[in-house]
Amino acid sequence: MRSTRRFLTTWQNMPSSRFWMMSLRHLVVVSSLCSLIFGYSERDRVHDLMSRYPLIDGHNDLALQLRKLHDNRLSQIDLHNVSKVATDITRLQAGHVQAQMFAVYVMCGAQEKDAVRLTLEQIDVVRRMCTEYQDFELVTSAPELKNSELRRKIACLISIEGGHSIDSSLPALRMFYQLGVRSMALTHTCNTPWAESSSKLYNVYQRQKDSLTRFGKAVVEEMNRLGMIVDLSHTSWGTASAVLKHSKAPVIFSHSSSYAICDHGRNVPDKLLHELKKNRGLIMVNLHSNFISCRDEANISHVADHFDHIKRVIGAESIGIGADFEGAVSFPQGLEDVSKYPALIQELLQRNWTEDELADVLRRNFLRVFEEVERVRDQLSVNRPSEIQIPVAEAQNPCRMVLRPPNLRELPSDQSSSSRAHQSPEALLILATVLLLSSLFMIE
Ligand SMILES: *[C@@H]1O[C@H](CO)[C@@H](O)[C@H](O)[C@H]1NC(C)=O
Ligand SMILES: *[C@@H]1O[C@H](CO)[C@@H](O)[C@H](O)[C@H]1NC(C)=O
Ligand SMILES: [Zn+2]
Repeated sequence: MRSTRRFLTTWQNMPSSRFWMMSLRHLVVVSSLCSLIFGYSERDRVHDLMSRYPLIDGHNDLALQLRKLHDNRLSQIDLHNVSKVATDITRLQAGHVQAQMFAVYVMCGAQEKDAVRLTLEQIDVVRRMCTEYQDFELVTSAPELKNSELRRKIACLISIEGGHSIDSSLPALRMFYQLGVRSMALTHTCNTPWAESSSKLYNVYQRQKDSLTRFGKAVVEEMNRLGMIVDLSHTSWGTASAVLKHSKAPVIFSHSSSYAICDHGRNVPDKLLHELKKNRGLIMVNLHSNFISCRDEANISHVADHFDHIKRVIGAESIGIGADFEGAVSFPQGLEDVSKYPALIQELLQRNWTEDELADVLRRNFLRVFEEVERVRDQLSVNRPSEIQIPVAEAQNPCRMVLRPPNLRELPSDQSSSSRAHQSPEALLILATVLLLSSLFMIE
């Protein structure tokens, strides 16, 4: 008020050139004051909040890009600054990313080929990346994850993306757990012999119903027993619903958005959101433009619409972020790489999300789910490793060595003789030799 009056009196007694100089100077002062009071403090508030509650992101496919662009040769690049991708250490730090679930993904085309080997190689590259760089730290439990924040590290969690990686084998699942895998998406874009994908891209293991088979339930039970988070992104709604009924622990959608806002098959309908809430699970919103606006372009307000909707339906305590950088091609304007998360948090603050709700979304919800998964693991610790095997007929696969006559159950007329044959000394000798040989190879 006072400065306006002074400005007006000065103006009346001034030659015009000096007036323009003065008003220009006023303009500069006023506008920088404005940005100090409004723009800057808003941004400072976001950075302050994110420093106290740095992000745990649910899904990133950097390992896939390392394979595609560099053939997994880490020695060729400096992970502090990687061109052609949206993820590197410098930008993770700028974006207040404290923990990242790194997907170990292999294409569905490998399902009946070498998916297990390819998965092992992706686990290897994530483990190398997260142990060779001081800024990263590989973590395998909720306490380690919390501790890594105090140590100012970016925590790496390993997540298998697609059940085809375990080749329908619970022992393989357990060995992946031993290597540090703490989450698995039950499918990618292909059905497995035991769970169903949201995508119809691959015409494999089709079935009318039974979207989670008996063996599929055994996979979920074994993941519960191990303390591995079940991830339902990419599964069909039928499979998701069956898992939500069956799982003893909370589950996650590591990178999916709201179907009510954008009706893409990868997104989650409200009906499933309600079931997810009952399960105490988490939906980590995917930022890929096509899942956000159902078009190739999107902006931050489209993304915030997903957050607002999901909050309205099941509450902020069920939401996280799983951006899907490196796995998807187009991202909303202003959210192009891992340094940009603060812009999203700023938009949500402007939409009256409280700091408490945002602290939940940024990390506390994920920590709660991880801790509950570990609590269920502890409760189930009296159970022994599951010895359930998929019926041979359900997982026919040309790359599987046949250790016993196939389709044993499907030879009704010959059943008794074939099972006698199976138990004959020659067959047992062959089986023993095969097992001995394969155990020798394992040792090497
Ligand atoms: C990253 O590398 C590019 C060249 O590849 C360089 O232009 C850029 O300045 C580097 N950025 C940082 C933060 O070091
Ligand atoms: C986002 O795009 C929509 C049009 O699709 C537009 O109405 C809206 O103003 C945009 N928001 C921002 C923040 O740019
Ligand atoms: Zn995905």
